[in-house]
Amino acid sequence: MIKIKFYGHACFSLEKDGQVVLIDPWLRENPVVSAFPEGLRPALILATHGHHDHLGDAVEISKRVGCPILAVPELVSFCAKQGATTTVGHYGGTLSFDFGTVKIVPAWHTSSVMVGDERVYAGSPCGFVIRFHGRTFYHAGDTALFGDMKLIGDATPLDYAFLPIGDLATMGIEDAVVAVELLRPRLVIPMHYNTWERIAQDPQGFKGRVEARTPTRCLILHPGEEHEVPV
Ligand code: NI
Ligand code: MN
Repeated sequence: MIKIKFYGHACFSLEKDGQVVLIDPWLRENPVVSAFPEGLRPALILATHGHHDHLGDAVEISKRVGCPILAVPELVSFCAKQGATTTVGHYGGTLSFDFGTVKIVPAWHTSSVMVGDERVYAGSPCGFVIRFHGRTFYHAGDTALFGDMKLIGDATPLDYAFLPIGDLATMGIEDAVVAVELLRPRLVIPMHYNTWERIAQDPQGFKGRVEARTPTRCLILHPGEEHEVPV
């Protein structure tokens, strides 16, 4: 059994037999968070981009646990300078791990980190296609809708897609439904909504539209909820 845990916003973990891959661990300052970084002992952290609501507590966790942060080179340099352990990835490249593979795919968004009052460029944002103990997960990161999502779905049949629906900073519900049509995952889990008033969305509305228009099922997870994937 693989356990998917949704911590709120864009933070998920995948776990099997105690081995954890943690994605976009924004926890300490997350208003809807379900956990704090102290208890987490991931084997690997994936960071889609440098914005605080994604990179979050990655550096702190990496320094405490010793696990690498996988990100694009510019973000890796920033994390390494803060004392984190890192692994570099690039668009189109696949890295191998004992649990499977991680492929870095594009996302249409921006990426920066705040250093004092300065906004510093942190490379291009990305998404991840994660092959974890025989199942395939796509975490889109923050992104607008783009047509090449079809290529991601064509290349690898996706078991799960984690897609933002909050609008404003990412796709809203209508665009996310089109993303589901392009990606064709077995199951979609919406993310990046209802953290703040300005990204308020009705996930039931998303679910209704996805299931009316596509064969994909939609699973709504609340912060702290887990979902078990049979393997
Ligand atoms: Ni962002
Ligand atoms: Mn974001």
